[in-house]
Amino acid sequence: MEMRALVTGASAGLGAEFARQLSADGFALVLVARDESRLRALADELAAASGIEVEVLPADLLDAVDLERVAARLAADARPVDVLVNNAGFAVAEAFHASAIDDERRMHELLSWVPLRLSHAVLPGMRARGRGGILNVASLAGRLPSGSYSAAKAQVVALSRSLHARYARDGVSVTALLPGFVVTEFHDRMGVSPDVVPRAGWADASSVVRDGLRALRKRRRAVVSDWRYRLALPFLPLVPDRLIAGTGLGGRLDG
Ligand SMILES: NC(=O)c1ccc[n+]([C@@H]2O[C@H](COP(=O)([O-])OP(=O)(O)OC[C@H]3O[C@@H](n4cnc5c(N)ncnc54)[C@H](OP(=O)(O)O)[C@@H]3O)[C@@H](O)[C@H]2O)c1
Repeated sequence: MEMRALVTGASAGLGAEFARQLSADGFALVLVARDESRLRALADELAAASGIEVEVLPADLLDAVDLERVAARLAADARPVDVLVNNAGFAVAEAFHASAIDDERRMHELLSWVPLRLSHAVLPGMRARGRGGILNVASLAGRLPSGSYSAAKAQVVALSRSLHARYARDGVSVTALLPGFVVTEFHDRMGVSPDVVPRAGWADASSVVRDGLRALRKRRRAVVSDWRYRLALPFLPLVPDRLIAGTGLGGRLDG
């Protein structure tokens, strides 16, 4: 039976890696992001390598019309989507007291409202088919006091937990993936130097994505990735909030 996954933010970073690993597992794909040329290049590469079917669905998820087009694709009965990866995201670089409120709204919408909207679109079909998975890319920041980014990610962790608790009995598994620092374009786009964290603190996208997909397969409600952050997890409550707030794990509170 053909399985299909829709990945948001598939043009770069974790999303492109999700597309690669899912295609290697034999999933047909629907790729969503704003940059159509990057999506098409990835689609051609994956279709040639794995022989899978790849749809390209360019969309700005902060545009209401585009968002509804993606929601409609998720709700479609034809070529149904079995796995939704809610991954697209960015963080506001400026300190909270100095940021533009419209940037805060856009970040909150992309990280919190968009995964809710898309989960709402895909769930009825998954329930009717008795199977499906939703992987929400949250962040370790969702459990830490690291700015308004933390607040948005905490919402998606809570949503994942609630949906997992309610819909596992219907065959639909919902998993929150909580990475620490990962080498992608994320910090570059924020204008934050990679030197905010020592090299040893950065995880590779491939191991984070592998952890996320394994947790989804095992029907876990949440997973912290990668191993170095799982090791650090018990010690994080010992670190004073004001130190965590200055790390730049999500948005910055300093400056
Ligand atoms: N990197 C980290 O250290 C880290 C840590 C924890 C959690 N995360 C989370 O991981 C997820 C993926 O981030 P990443 O690290 O892979 O960052 P990235 O390399 O910057 O990729 C972000 C992706 O999101 C897409 N995107 C951004 N705005 C969009 C919009 N309005 N509509 C549609 N797509 C949009 C981008 O594509 P286009 O520009 O083509 O639209 C891109 O494909 C995010 O949710 C992030 O919060 C990252």
